[in-house]
Amino acid sequence: MTSSRARLTVGVARAWRRRWDRQQERLIPGREERFDAILDAIGRAVGPRFRALDLGCGTGSLTERLLDRYPEARVVALDFDPITLRLGRTALGDRAGRVTWVEADLRDPRWSVSVPAGRFDAAVSTTALHWLTEPELRRVYHRLGDLLRPRGVFLNGDSFGFAPDSKRLARLARAASDAPDPSPGGGESWAAWWRAVLREPRLADEAAMHRARFPGHHERTPTPDLRGHERLLRDSGFREVEVIWGRWRNRVLAAVR
Ligand SMILES: C[S@@+](CC[C@H](N)C(=O)[O-])C[C@H]1O[C@@H](n2cnc3c(N)ncnc32)[C@H](O)[C@@H]1O
Repeated sequence: MTSSRARLTVGVARAWRRRWDRQQERLIPGREERFDAILDAIGRAVGPRFRALDLGCGTGSLTERLLDRYPEARVVALDFDPITLRLGRTALGDRAGRVTWVEADLRDPRWSVSVPAGRFDAAVSTTALHWLTEPELRRVYHRLGDLLRPRGVFLNGDSFGFAPDSKRLARLARAASDAPDPSPGGGESWAAWWRAVLREPRLADEAAMHRARFPGHHERTPTPDLRGHERLLRDSGFREVEVIWGRWRNRVLAAVR
């Protein structure tokens, strides 16, 4: 019997990735602008020749943009979802040795054992770390403090919650479509993309693994708000922590080691 792994072509993987980007653009207004803010900041902070770690890389959207913008950069792209990883790996390959794909669970205290050795100049993440609880995030940031070189930078683009007493601002943020309905008419929603990809026969093995690894995948995790992230980063040895780009709750948090 031919394994499903043999049948996923580069063209099919690229088509799924394009669909991924389209639904993420609908879900996250300003997504491309946010990527740009991260790309610009990384070059300014550590220069054009760097080694970066992309946490929760998904299909490699940010990894690809980093490699395109900085031809001398190398990226370790880490995720635990067998579907998004397979799509990224198949579509992008290793870009002449510049990308290393790593399968690791950030919820696992030993998540970094499969990260190739050596200090990083930068770490990045987009729309990923909100899946982690406070204790998990504390461990990830603590380890990240060891993985980054002194003056290395961490750039995290995500939706960061407001403080509990910012009720009016939270209402305004909702009204400003900061958290748009993921399935308004026209275009594919995030949930619809997942429903479709889980039915893709060429990814049947990965779909089974996905279900086992993320049984409550579509459930919300109680995750820290912006101030919680800032505190955890400072507790982990990051000396400077600031928001460097934002649209309501959608922000880029930068931290210098
Ligand atoms: C919404 S996607 C974002 C992907 C990509 N960074 C982007 O901006 O398109 C969130 C990613 O975080 C990954 N993720 C969630 N929980 C994770 C965990 N515990 N360990 C590693 N990756 C995780 C998911 O598998 C998924 O690929």
